[in-house]
Amino acid sequence: MYSEKVMDHFNNPRNVGEIENASGVGTVGNAKCGDIMRIYLDIDDKGIIRDCKFKTFGCGAAVATSSMATELVKGKSIEEAMQVTNKAVMEALDGLPPVKVHCSLLAEEAIHAALWDYAEKNHITIAGLSKPKSDIHEGEEAEEEEY
Ligand code: FES
Repeated sequence: MYSEKVMDHFNNPRNVGEIENASGVGTVGNAKCGDIMRIYLDIDDKGIIRDCKFKTFGCGAAVATSSMATELVKGKSIEEAMQVTNKAVMEALDGLPPVKVHCSLLAEEAIHAALWDYAEKNHITIAGLSKPKSDIHEGEEAEEEEY
């Protein structure tokens, strides 16, 4: 049911933990399943993501997507991090079962929430970034309703 990459990132998640005095922190949840994800970003003066860590209280797919998402944004510019969508994370994991697609949305939203926090702290605007939802279930599509 799960790809080898998903199992690998679930069994050995990368970048678990917190960053003290992080440049940006984003927490999002899904009220329907009760899962919560927090992403910490350390961003340097040039806007490069030096480090990224996560804490996820959630299902295995949420842990695997958080782990992969942190790997994908590390070393990237803010603009590049904005391209790390849930689809990009799923592709990097060789896919997720349809019923678990919503878990990868948590990762995308948590990154956006952390970037939003960074932008607010630094009084900047990030192109394409809008205020994150704290509950991603609000934005889920109807087709994901049936699980
Ligand atoms: Fe909720 Fe996976 S079941 S994030």
